[in-house]
Amino acid sequence: MKKVAIVYHSGFGHTEVQAKSVFQGAQSITGIQAFLIKAEDAVNEPANLNKMDAIIFGSPTYLGAVSAPFKAFMDATTDIWFQQQWKDKIAAGFTNSHSLSGDKLSTLIQLAIFGAQHGMIWVGQAEMNTSPDGQPGHPDAINRVGTMLGATAQSENADASETPGGGDLKSAELFGARVASVALRMK
Ligand SMILES: Cc1cc2nc3c(=O)[nH]c(=O)nc-3n(C[C@H](O)[C@H](O)[C@H](O)COP(=O)(O)O)c2cc1C
Repeated sequence: MKKVAIVYHSGFGHTEVQAKSVFQGAQSITGIQAFLIKAEDAVNEPANLNKMDAIIFGSPTYLGAVSAPFKAFMDATTDIWFQQQWKDKIAAGFTNSHSLSGDKLSTLIQLAIFGAQHGMIWVGQAEMNTSPDGQPGHPDAINRVGTMLGATAQSENADASETPGGGDLKSAELFGARVASVALRMK
């Protein structure tokens, strides 16, 4: 079995819904054992992730960047980084924000550089923007904003029940499955 961890933060529950879809996608691949881990827990013992074959990072976009609790997790990996213990593991990332763009790409770049700092191998979103009715921005469209660096979702921030919708969650699921499939191919 190959192990895939989804390490995420969600301040109000929206990104958590996206994270669960990434988890479902990863878990759907035969030969994969997936783990859904809050950044607030991982921050205490990040070395527990050393046994993973792939780590998928997820954070809401706050002010065009990862959230503070997710950054705390990132900083807690400094010893691991110094010893390059995650070198050649698979890495990937996803983010969610209120606006359709919301500068989510900035967060994904931050996550990809984090993976690169660790010597990890970054896997992007392989799903092209597709929609059932030919409208690229349709709520049911796959990869609605056409971001290839990682998975993205958009959600209203009025209350926690207004979470990412159909196309974004399907994109997250496909993304989790892809990352898990790549992890399976690694020796
Ligand atoms: C401190 C803060 C900063 C935010 N900055 C952005 C932003 O830069 N772009 C954006 O589109 N939404 C922004 N939002 C909205 C959140 O991304 C949005 O509400 C998201 O769904 C929250 O996810 P969560 O419930 O997982 O925390 C911000 C929200 C907060 C609380």
